[in-house]
Amino acid sequence: MRFPYSKQGHLRFVTPLLVSLFLALHQLQHTLASPLYLDAVLSLDLEELAPAFDFIVVGGGTAGLAVASRLATNLSSTVLVIEAGSNQEDNPGVFTPGLAGSTIGSPIDWSFNTVPQTQANGRVINYPRGKGLGGSSLINFQAYTRGCAAEYAAWASLGGSGWDWNSLKVYFKKSGKLHPPTGNSQNEHVDYDSTANGASGPIDQSFPPYMAEQLAGWHQAVLSLSIPIAKDQGNGKNVGVSYIASTIDPSVHRRRTSVGYLEDNAIQPNLVVLTNAHVTRINWSPLKVYGNVVASGVTFVGGDGLPINVTASREVILSAGSVQTPQLLELSGVGDPAILTPLGIPVVVNLPGVGANMQDHPMAINIYRLKPGIDSLDNLLNDPIFLATSLAEYAVGEGILTDFVYPVAFLSSSQFLSTADQQTTFNLLSASNNPWLSSKQLAATAGLLTGGSPIIEFVPANAFFGDGSRNGSSYISLAAAVQHSLSRGTIHISSTNPFNPPNINPKYLQSPADQFLLAKAGQWNRQLAALAPLAQYIDTEVVPGPLVQSQADWEAWVKATVSTEFHAIGTASMLPRADKGVVDNCLKVYGTTNVRVVDVSVVPLHLSSHMQAIAYAIAERAADLIL
Ligand SMILES: Cc1cc2nc3c(=O)[nH]c(=O)nc-3n(C[C@H](O)[C@H](O)[C@H](O)COP(=O)(O)OP(=O)(O)OC[C@H]3O[C@@H](n4cnc5c(N)ncnc54)[C@H](O)[C@@H]3O)c2cc1C
Ligand SMILES: *[C@@H]1O[C@H](CO)[C@@H](O)[C@H](O)[C@H]1NC(C)=O
Ligand SMILES: *[C@@H]1O[C@H](CO)[C@@H](O)[C@H](O)[C@H]1NC(C)=O
Ligand SMILES: *[C@@H]1O[C@H](CO)[C@@H](O)[C@H](O)[C@H]1NC(C)=O
Repeated sequence: MRFPYSKQGHLRFVTPLLVSLFLALHQLQHTLASPLYLDAVLSLDLEELAPAFDFIVVGGGTAGLAVASRLATNLSSTVLVIEAGSNQEDNPGVFTPGLAGSTIGSPIDWSFNTVPQTQANGRVINYPRGKGLGGSSLINFQAYTRGCAAEYAAWASLGGSGWDWNSLKVYFKKSGKLHPPTGNSQNEHVDYDSTANGASGPIDQSFPPYMAEQLAGWHQAVLSLSIPIAKDQGNGKNVGVSYIASTIDPSVHRRRTSVGYLEDNAIQPNLVVLTNAHVTRINWSPLKVYGNVVASGVTFVGGDGLPINVTASREVILSAGSVQTPQLLELSGVGDPAILTPLGIPVVVNLPGVGANMQDHPMAINIYRLKPGIDSLDNLLNDPIFLATSLAEYAVGEGILTDFVYPVAFLSSSQFLSTADQQTTFNLLSASNNPWLSSKQLAATAGLLTGGSPIIEFVPANAFFGDGSRNGSSYISLAAAVQHSLSRGTIHISSTNPFNPPNINPKYLQSPADQFLLAKAGQWNRQLAALAPLAQYIDTEVVPGPLVQSQADWEAWVKATVSTEFHAIGTASMLPRADKGVVDNCLKVYGTTNVRVVDVSVVPLHLSSHMQAIAYAIAERAADLIL
């Protein structure tokens, strides 16, 4: 037997007896101080727990826990969350901000891989996704950004009425709580916009008390190029260079994950959170309503390997993320007949957009060795004394382990490219050749780029961020990621076995503009590293190194190195059904009466942002739409 979730000193055993008491407890709702946490290792029959739940949320990830917690504010309805992983709040790799990245490849990462990328030398690229309560908010880099207002206008114009910036602003604010900079020597120069940020939501945003001097130097170097400051990455005007907030609770210097939603709502006895339970399919009622299919519930497999059915009397909400939401739809017969029929899966809803329109932010990274004596996170591995000192500092809320990402820059094409290179980029945009890229999406993207929305993100990391060749030195990694790629990938099942990962095919560099832009970005990063405010910390460029000089060299390097900024979207796009959409603007899956998608797979066109703030905003708006 496992110990269930413990919090605020209440260590609660979950036993079959407690399970059978659930309904009674529900009536005594005010006597319980938190949701009920169950672990499927106990192989419970949930039918004993409750005959049916009003809502079943599949995936206790970033958006999943947020929407479930908000739905459970209606104490007359019951909500079940089913999460494949376990509770990780006590995992130091999760809660220690400076250890972000250390859990990639660990048991709390699904550790997916792409299929070989034909435009990128046939390479297979790691594709991490978080597994456990919190989902990818467990393993991400805590960066808090939202993108720019014009991008949400583009989303709304493609069929997402109600998803424009002004409509979403209230949901961004509802999910968050910004802690202003404390004014200490490390963050006195950090700015923010109080009107843009929430004051009492569950997801803390704060400015860490430590900033590496070379990251401050990076910020100065960008400013020396006459790039303007973007005051706050949360106010819809994101073009420029910023110090950004991180999803860190400053009172304890710990990462804040979506589990924060459960902790913030002390009384939710009508919410049951089941862990170590893998959903394998949606079940359908034999009856249709006006030709639409009705979900009756889901099947999951717990620790003992046996399938268990659980009934949803109102809705099934898919929050399994951009990789596994399309997988579950296809396993349940919702998708493209060309994918389903060869696998022998009966087509329940013919919806060719499922798993298509996948977009990511393709990324390439220059790496520089730092001068001796300049510390980076690498030194935690290099030097046991540095590690011991850093742990001691962290214990009192100071030092290198309190931080991960600080400055970033989102640049428009005119800030980043010469006039000639802008022209080349626009020519390549129109030349891109992808059957899944609609003319509406092409026009919307071109409009964003000519209108001055960011085309590229630059973000420095205080560590070696690459494969192999790191040694006992310290490094700074200068990452660049294309924000509005015209490549359109797919995520489809290749088997009826729900435990086989789907084929992830981002089709990196399908759009020739991406290769051109990442090659230019590598050159921009090299120039930046030579500017005095940053150069004073740098010893040598180790990636790509001095052999890479011409644009052709850089493009070859991009093919050899492109990877993911971890921002997959679009695999259940909010678009009209006629435009190969999967969900309508109420997040309802076409052809169903009661299945919604609530995660970032609904975003139909990419944004110049990291994705967690958007996942929370989608969840907040979803709960409002449903309640
Ligand atoms: C390594 C990495 C770094 C990132 N860095 C940042 C960053 O710094 N800032 C930022 O804003 N964004 C970042 N992102 C992106 C951001 O974290 C994600 O886009 C966002 O968290 C996705 O939220 P989601 O709700 O769509 O999915 P997820 O949070 O991934 O949730 C999906 C959940 O569903 C569960 N699940 C899946 N299938 C099943 C099943 N069959 N049965 C039961 N449960 C299932 C999963 O275990 C998971 O808990 C990063 C992502 C990664 C992977
Ligand atoms: C679960 O539901 C499915 C689909 O309705 C059905 O085929 C299966 O027999 C059920 N399994 C159990 C264990 O009740
Ligand atoms: C490893 O470190 C030494 C200096 O200590 C340096 O000469 C060598 O080039 C380094 N290699 C890399 C990849 O940084
Ligand atoms: C609250 O839940 C009950 C039971 O599902 C439902 O009948 C009622 O309409 C809900 N109220 C709101 C405001 O959604």
